[in-house]
Amino acid sequence: MRTKNIILIGPMGSGKSTIGQLLANRLKREFFDSDFFIEERTGVDIPRIFDIEGEEGFRIRETRALEELTGKGNIVLATGGGAVTRKENRELLQKSGFIIFLDTSVEQQLERLQHDKKRPLLQTENPRERLEKLLAERKPLYLKLADLRIPTDRKFARKVAAEIIPQLPAYLN
Ligand code: S3P
Repeated sequence: MRTKNIILIGPMGSGKSTIGQLLANRLKREFFDSDFFIEERTGVDIPRIFDIEGEEGFRIRETRALEELTGKGNIVLATGGGAVTRKENRELLQKSGFIIFLDTSVEQQLERLQHDKKRPLLQTENPRERLEKLLAERKPLYLKLADLRIPTDRKFARKVAAEIIPQLPAYLN
């Protein structure tokens, strides 16, 4: 029988990929990261996709990846920080999984992403301003979608994963 996916949402630098991998190991589920999946499929990295196709082109690919990945069932899925911006993605995630929002402050994001070159949206004069704007737009969407909200500031990924496990509904274990 197909069971629900466990889906991680939250901003860049909230730890979705690391925590998702840890959860998958603990729960003996397969782990997928939608950005990584897109990179594997296209054979180029995310910055290159943004260069060639713009953000809109990336978002189309992201929706296709989410459709395919959520269809698998029984996986742990780390989504990109902007996945919640499209209505069709939100509907897809909501109907196919138990959604965990990794709630992270801009301060913490900046600490974790200081030297990052792989996030096209951060290659700007003022990353703080950009992150604040994105969070202001997206946080209401993260909150609305979340079945579970976990604050992650100043916590190691292992601690966050250990906090999540006992809060999962029994049918997911
Ligand atoms: C994005 C977040 C990134 C990646 C792309 C766009 C966003 O994923 O999908 O650079 O719009 O916030 P992470 O959240 O894994 O960094």
